[in-house]
Amino acid sequence: MRHFIIDTDTASDDAVALVMALTAPDIAVEAITVVAGNVPVNQGVQNALYTVEQCGGGVPVYTGIAKPLLRPLETAQFVHGADGMGDIGLPLSGRTPAPGHAVDVIIDTITRLAGEITLVTIGPLTNVAVAITRAPEIARLVNRCVVMGGIGLGHGNVVPAAEYNIWVDPEAAKIVFESGIPITMVGWDISQRYAVFTDADADRLQRVSPLGEFCVSIQRRLRDFGREHLMLAGFDLPDPIAMAVAIDPRVATVTRRLHVEIETKSELTRGATVVDHFGVTNNTPNVDVVLEASRERFLELLYAAVQAQ
Ligand code: BDR
Ligand code: CA
Repeated sequence: MRHFIIDTDTASDDAVALVMALTAPDIAVEAITVVAGNVPVNQGVQNALYTVEQCGGGVPVYTGIAKPLLRPLETAQFVHGADGMGDIGLPLSGRTPAPGHAVDVIIDTITRLAGEITLVTIGPLTNVAVAITRAPEIARLVNRCVVMGGIGLGHGNVVPAAEYNIWVDPEAAKIVFESGIPITMVGWDISQRYAVFTDADADRLQRVSPLGEFCVSIQRRLRDFGREHLMLAGFDLPDPIAMAVAIDPRVATVTRRLHVEIETKSELTRGATVVDHFGVTNNTPNVDVVLEASRERFLELLYAAVQAQ
């Protein structure tokens, strides 16, 4: 078994990523740790708990930090819906998270399973940054850290220069990117190029099973946003394609080890992932940046997940 920790600001595409990990036969999800981002942290906890229930239960969900390190929380409810799950009327309240704080759980689990944890981050990096600040040695004890965030090649989604997860808490992202943790970065450009679902793609997925129907129906608000604001042919699934890379590294077909720095000072380019593609800074490369991916392999994993029950 491989051991995963998933740090998430659970909204509609995070939920699909959770389904992929929770149904993977060879993956033990040790903990789902929730951070504020797309939705306030307690809503994210409810969304994660509901998603775990859809997959048969049994995986603990922990509440984490309620706001970015230095800045006010700016949610993405305008993207994913007020409840983060498409506003389709799901009963997303009343469930109880596991006792304990997400940051403690991240530190304890990485320490207990030293060298064995794949940490998958699909939200702002606040929880992980605080964990690393409190226990810097965990950066070396993680086997692999797959980050959905930033931009390898191209432009941003919430603002021209940055992707949401990095933009919303750039100081946290800076701590994580400078920590020495072995990062594979799956930027929004990868989602935009390889993980867009047209209506026909969505219909096909939703017909597979109740889990398929769940994964598609919760994208209702994201679908509107994708069309109206991102000029996509439908909705895209950034967190699921990052999860696919975590589950099977072959989903990333071209990856380069490059230096990536996070912009925190400028208002205009706040949260930009400044990727040194040509080595012009002479800084030592610190990130495996995914530059191309296999949509085919990603879809195989996604379909396997929704067929699992
Ligand atoms: C990221 O922000 C959120 O909208 C998604 O859940 C994803 O993690 C994409 O920029
Ligand atoms: Ca997310």
